[in-house]
Amino acid sequence: MLDLLMQGKKAVKGAVFTAYYPMRYGAMGRYLAAARVVEGWTSHAELVALGEAVKTLPADPVIVELGSWLGRSAIALAGACELRGDGEVHCVDAFDARGDSFSAETYRDRQDHLRRPLRENFDRTISRAGLSHRVHVHAQGTTDAAAEWTRPIDMLFMDADQSRDGVREAFDLWSPFLKDGAVLAIHNTLDREYAEGHDGHFELVKTSIKPPAFEIDRMVWTTTFARRTSAVARAGATVVPLRDAAPAGASRMATDAPDLESASNDRLGARRR
Ligand SMILES: C[S@@+](CC[C@H](N)C(=O)[O-])C[C@H]1O[C@@H](n2cnc3c(N)ncnc32)[C@H](O)[C@@H]1O
Repeated sequence: MLDLLMQGKKAVKGAVFTAYYPMRYGAMGRYLAAARVVEGWTSHAELVALGEAVKTLPADPVIVELGSWLGRSAIALAGACELRGDGEVHCVDAFDARGDSFSAETYRDRQDHLRRPLRENFDRTISRAGLSHRVHVHAQGTTDAAAEWTRPIDMLFMDADQSRDGVREAFDLWSPFLKDGAVLAIHNTLDREYAEGHDGHFELVKTSIKPPAFEIDRMVWTTTFARRTSAVARAGATVVPLRDAAPAGASRMATDAPDLESASNDRLGARRR
């Protein structure tokens, strides 16, 4: 009975969003409405902002989402691609309710209330939104997926394991693929009290998302939107003492200067506590 009531409420909400959002958000309204009725952790304002970020990407963008759950944010990302007429969204999620110590219990609890397995739910959601052709699923851990990944990335949305170690590992493995100017969106980064083991994204932004490697564009609700700076800008911030300058014959072009924000440097900087 309660199940039926919940379903009825969801249907009414869906109908309202479907009617109103296209008036409010134009063509993107259809996808925002579809996303709004999918259970998830991304707020409406964040869904709008994710879609807006996709609009700014170069042609044929490659977008990677770490942590998809039932597809709520994936709809916003893939819907924005669909409206552009190009782009692909790679959703990396093990679909087994894994996560940091704080989240995993919630995921398992939510999963137990679903009638279908997570992956099946995700596929149905994306298919119902008419976006299957834009979405590529990597049903595995973010570490395993990174080991197989080879392509430059235009936008990375981080929303998987939120422990400090999990976030650091995901960042170290995935951020080297970010193109110059790529968007890095990181969920759950508000300056607030966090449950134990759940503040990895907040710590990452505080310690590592800054010049010369990144410029923060804006924060929408809990999501920080940053851009990978260009190689020239990164190199320009590198002070190379004259006596340690490149050996004779080596290129002195700025783009050949050492990359200050290499994974190991970041790791050192992040282990503050
Ligand atoms: C916060 S939810 C994602 C929410 C989704 N972006 C949304 O819009 O609602 C995090 C998802 O990432 C998955 N996850 C957590 N750690 C992971 C890991 N190390 N590898 C793959 N998936 C992981 C979780 O099981 C869950 O499905």
